[in-house]
Amino acid sequence: MKLSRRKMISLIGGGTVVAATAFAGGFLATRSPTEALAPWVGAGNYSEPRMKALSFALLAPNPHNRQPWIAELRGDDMLVIHRNKSLNLPETDPFDRQLTVGMGCFLELLRMAAAQDGYAVQTELFPLGEDGPVATAYFGKGGTPDPLFAHVLDRHTNRKAYENRLISKDAQAVLADYASIKSDPEDVAELRTLTWEAMDVELTTQHVMMESVDLMRFGKAEIEANPDGISLGGPFLESLMLAGMLSREDQADQNSSSFKQGRDMIRDAMNETQAYAVVTSKGNSRVAQIEAGYDWIRLQLAATGQGLSMQPVSQALQEFPEMAEHYSKVHEILAGPGETVQMLARLGYGPKIDPSPRWLLDTRVTNA
Ligand SMILES: Cc1cc2nc3c(=O)[nH]c(=O)nc-3n(C[C@H](O)[C@H](O)[C@H](O)COP(=O)(O)O)c2cc1C
Repeated sequence: MKLSRRKMISLIGGGTVVAATAFAGGFLATRSPTEALAPWVGAGNYSEPRMKALSFALLAPNPHNRQPWIAELRGDDMLVIHRNKSLNLPETDPFDRQLTVGMGCFLELLRMAAAQDGYAVQTELFPLGEDGPVATAYFGKGGTPDPLFAHVLDRHTNRKAYENRLISKDAQAVLADYASIKSDPEDVAELRTLTWEAMDVELTTQHVMMESVDLMRFGKAEIEANPDGISLGGPFLESLMLAGMLSREDQADQNSSSFKQGRDMIRDAMNETQAYAVVTSKGNSRVAQIEAGYDWIRLQLAATGQGLSMQPVSQALQEFPEMAEHYSKVHEILAGPGETVQMLARLGYGPKIDPSPRWLLDTRVTNA
């Protein structure tokens, strides 16, 4: 179905579709995927120390929300952390770099949650080499609680437009401990253009885009059945789905008006950005990627504590051939000699948003 921009805006403003459906009211009020969000409510509700720490770690940010971690319980005090390679993203992440950064976020949250509970975690990365488990983690008494842990349940990836206001110098100084913050208007303008152009390459490179389309979850039932990937839910999007204006087929078709409207909405939100954060590493080893994950989660928690929102805009960092020009450009602008840009993100004051879905912990633990 064709959807004009004016009509789309009238939907956003007035909920015309809701009124037009037989379901109005009650149906849309029940659209929250309660089960898919249960891990946010149940975090910490375990007495076994490793399970308790894992219940927070699984809230880690991770590419396409694949949640590729598997925790193997060994003996009384050890975890072996694996990455489930069947959840790889060969198009957008051909060398598993982003997935490895996500594993770093998971390990750092595990460490922080254990410390909060009185345990020091001794981590060994890639104990059997890079093709084996990502880490072993021994739990011993100790650990120093980390003030950033207070923000774990409030940290979310915010893809909305951010307010047109500068980030306070104080907040920038706090975040500068974790990343390079770009707020100079010329830098911001350059990064806005670069990140949007890279996004457009991803959106319009069909074989790459299809990886995301295949991982889209349309509406509550799909989200509850597969609480991962890219969830398209909530009253507004479900209204469009009910009216036949948002579907997997449309998203796979670059010529559909639904696809074009979605593209415009992404561009408009991305343009509403007044600052960026950049995490770089020396080299690009697997350990450097894990450590970038430690930095990223700490940065995002610190930003959350400052009332700020973040969204990675990773497209220019992706390593598929069609992105090569943007990958070079982003490194030319943001990386020193021998450095790799591991994370590039929008930063700003965003509206309140809901958490994203997670699989229950039981689905990610073996030998429990
Ligand atoms: C390495 C990495 C790359 C990411 N790249 C993007 C991205 O390009 N665009 C985006 O919207 N989110 C990106 N994310 C955020 C994930 O999509 C997000 O963490 C995941 O969907 C879970 O949602 P949450 O962070 O709100 O819990 C990235 C996260 C990581 C760790």
